[in-house]
Amino acid sequence: GLAADAEEGGSDFVSKLKEQKKRIVIFYGSQTGTAEEYAVKIAKEAKARFGTSSLVCDPEEYEFEKLDALPEDAVAVFVMATYGEGEPTDNAVGLMEHISDEGVAFSNGDNLENLKYVIFGLGNRTYEHFNKIARDLDERLQKLGAHRIGERGEGDDDKSMEEDYLAWKDGMFEALAREGGFEEGSGGEVEDFRVEEIGEYEQDKVYQGELSARALLGTKGIHDAKNPYLAPVGKAKELFSVGGERSCVHMEFDIEGSGISYQHGDHVAVWAHNPESEVERMLNVLGLSEKRNTVIDVESLDPTLAKVPFPTPTTYEAIFRHYLDVTAVASRQALNAFAKYAPTDAAREELSKIGSNKQYFTEKVGSRGLRLAQVLQLVCGDDVRDPSKATAWNIPFDRVISGIPRVGPRFYSISSSPKLHPKAVHVTAVVLRYKPEGGDDYIHGLATNFISSLKASVNGEEPDSRFNAPKYTIDGPRGSYVKEGKFRSPIHIRRSTFRLPTSPKIPVIMIGPGTGVAPFRGFVQERVAASQKAKEKNGADALKDWGKIRLFYGCRKADEDFLYRDEWEEHKAALGDVFEMSTALSREKFKPDGSKMYVQDLIWEQREAIAKDILENKAYIYICGEAAGMAKDVENVLLRILGEAKGSAEEGKKEYQLLKTRSRLLLDVWS
Ligand code: 2AM
Repeated sequence: GLAADAEEGGSDFVSKLKEQKKRIVIFYGSQTGTAEEYAVKIAKEAKARFGTSSLVCDPEEYEFEKLDALPEDAVAVFVMATYGEGEPTDNAVGLMEHISDEGVAFSNGDNLENLKYVIFGLGNRTYEHFNKIARDLDERLQKLGAHRIGERGEGDDDKSMEEDYLAWKDGMFEALAREGGFEEGSGGEVEDFRVEEIGEYEQDKVYQGELSARALLGTKGIHDAKNPYLAPVGKAKELFSVGGERSCVHMEFDIEGSGISYQHGDHVAVWAHNPESEVERMLNVLGLSEKRNTVIDVESLDPTLAKVPFPTPTTYEAIFRHYLDVTAVASRQALNAFAKYAPTDAAREELSKIGSNKQYFTEKVGSRGLRLAQVLQLVCGDDVRDPSKATAWNIPFDRVISGIPRVGPRFYSISSSPKLHPKAVHVTAVVLRYKPEGGDDYIHGLATNFISSLKASVNGEEPDSRFNAPKYTIDGPRGSYVKEGKFRSPIHIRRSTFRLPTSPKIPVIMIGPGTGVAPFRGFVQERVAASQKAKEKNGADALKDWGKIRLFYGCRKADEDFLYRDEWEEHKAALGDVFEMSTALSREKFKPDGSKMYVQDLIWEQREAIAKDILENKAYIYICGEAAGMAKDVENVLLRILGEAKGSAEEGKKEYQLLKTRSRLLLDVWS
């Protein structure tokens, strides 16, 4: 209970700091774990530089009354992500409330003069409120008298997070040394983990890819991000014209009996694992191929600095198939960390050069999209296209665990409504593959290619072997995703605020070209289900006072990539005039000047009706799809329409802001 917590220093970070004789406290506002990773990174580097341990804190677990009572020689570090439309991450809501005007209450009043801090924000430039939370927090802390002792850092998740961090951190550490009295050079190499190969274990307690203890032991429990559900795949099919180069998969995950529920507009997280080529490559590069089935135990040497990122005991092979992200493009930091373990002097020099020189890194690694293990192959003169042949590196395994992040789930907008499909969650995913600028090999998206492979297994098809498509173990002796005769994937649901207004009388405008249409398939299904109920109750003209449901969709050609073409016709039959779909066929129908027809052009054509719905009938507007190009263009055309209707660009902009603050304009976009 509370008393016990208080005794251990529970939610009081000041006591904890004093007890543990630490002088740096690091708070992270993190939703998906990235900010937390950076917080840990800072703690580790502080230890390596100054020999000082830090207290890394999830703000949700602490009270902030004592923010004004840090010891004089202590410094606070804030690593704050901005989430969605300028919101704090769930775990930072309390902190933001505490420092707000209404919330302020510190142990000695409302003055933070004692507080010395630095701050790094994580955001995404494709969103309007870039790094809003870090900026707000910074401003508030200064207003309350706190002293920021270095530049505020701002990372852009869209493009350059790592570079932004690298550019910021040296100045920050210098400020820490200067203002906090820390001494450079007093640290040393920090080991995070103790790794032990074990000979005796219970075979059925060894993790082979299971994501939770409940999954391993088969015990019942709630399914969430910490305990994903191994959902059987019901239907799976190709949505684009067969034989075409591009592929879009429709997949239905069966949730019957799982206790999982969802709403239209929610996201489903798919936990994909790594393809075989990359599992093999890592094992070969680390000389662990023969030991792939060796069982290891991992223990954290300082749980506040680093948690073991996967469940143990487990095997080397399971780690590289299921737990560590070995398909991401190599990071400069990981390359720097591994250089000293190079098998030859030449390889070490080359790797150090790549790691330390940004331009050289871009040329050799970034532009070609090479993964960590490929870079290690490259600097040894191995063929990066061949995962089976690699010079072996002798890297302590605790360094490997520290240097490679965990595989995270990938999120998809659910494309069904629980009103029509209570027992299934539908996903609509374009299979991602492209040739990078400087590379000769395809890059493949991890989860969409996993989904594609899963589809082939479900249907008994040969997996797509074109474009050097990666192969996944789905039905194998190890890490099998077949149970009770069904192919499965781990999933969980993430709630969203992307929802229809409750009353069908309110008009809605949905804009979603490409797979951006996914949530709107769910939205329209939702209204179709409601219309059936309404008609049962009130007869044929039950929909007469319903608001218009406008859907703006776009694709290349009607016969090529028109998603769910037949279904829209059925929905039109059910909803009648209430439902109006406009489709921009960008490579089939062109504007008079010959340029491509896009959704924003159709929106502009219908500007009068749209302005009326927005201004007079309180319509809700939804945009889903690619952020930087499409969503920006659509936002601009909406601004123009409102500007015209309100008589000036300025008034239009005001109206537009109002729509956003009133949550009548909602975005579900990605980069
Ligand atoms: P394109 O590929 O012919 O350029 C789904 O991807 C649809 O969105 C395609 O028809 C695509 O057209 C179109 N699209 C591409 N960029 C867009 C943008 N900036 N605004 C709106 N639609 C766009």
